[in-house]
Amino acid sequence: MTPKEQLESCYRFVSEKISFVPKIALVLGSGLGAFADKIQVTATLNYADIPNFPVSTVAGHAGRFVFGICDGVPVAVMQGRVHMYEGYTPQEAVLPIRILHLLGAKILFLTNAAGGIQPGMKAGEFMLLTDQISSFVPSPLRGENIETLGVRFPDMSEIYSKRLNQIIRRIALNEDIPLKEGVYLQTAGPAYESPAEIRMFRTLGADAVGMSTAIEAIAARHCGMEICGVSCISNLAAGISPTPLSHEEVKEAGDKAAPQFEKLVRTAIAQIAELTE
Ligand code: HPA
Repeated sequence: MTPKEQLESCYRFVSEKISFVPKIALVLGSGLGAFADKIQVTATLNYADIPNFPVSTVAGHAGRFVFGICDGVPVAVMQGRVHMYEGYTPQEAVLPIRILHLLGAKILFLTNAAGGIQPGMKAGEFMLLTDQISSFVPSPLRGENIETLGVRFPDMSEIYSKRLNQIIRRIALNEDIPLKEGVYLQTAGPAYESPAEIRMFRTLGADAVGMSTAIEAIAARHCGMEICGVSCISNLAAGISPTPLSHEEVKEAGDKAAPQFEKLVRTAIAQIAELTE
């Protein structure tokens, strides 16, 4: 099955099950999945119940679409995502994003847990994504271009929308939520980085590092979605952190950050919906 055929088959299945047009699509990263329980749910769909759909296997990632209303705004939430380190191709990893686009979402709000590299960063803070480095992972646009989604050589000069970022910045300031900003770098994972790799990433201009998001953002820009992204800095990156890194630490940080995260995301959804009416 080609990536195009896989997308068409999954989209057909989802659209036959769900007659819901989301305004905003939201991807919840490690430890941040609880947000989906805070919306007024109209339907859910487990990834595992969609034939040919890539299924997430990571603890802390529920692996389903949640459709519902958040303060009056129709949203589609990915509670859990699939990663390349699970063995999926980059095309498979971005398939859910493309489905959300086909369902009608014009805005994509990406979230993740990430290791902090920027000097002065603290675990538990958030980072607004202003740009990204995806050069260490293969492109999700590799192979035959799906012309119905976008052009062969899409522009990436403003991956993260300046106007959406302005909204998020203002909310963080008003709500007293610590928000750094910077460049997110995606690695292939699943091992955390070595201290030497982190020093290299810092030299290259990265402020935070994680194992997702950048390829999703590329696929979303390819099909014309407007994007914003927030990392939860769950730990300081290897060599900066005084202790070894663990997935437990990452999930715990997500749980701790949950109330502020919910406030930031919920308020942002309402204001972004107003802006794009
Ligand atoms: N490195 C890569 N991915 C991560 C990290 C990290 O330090 N923390 C959370 N996800």
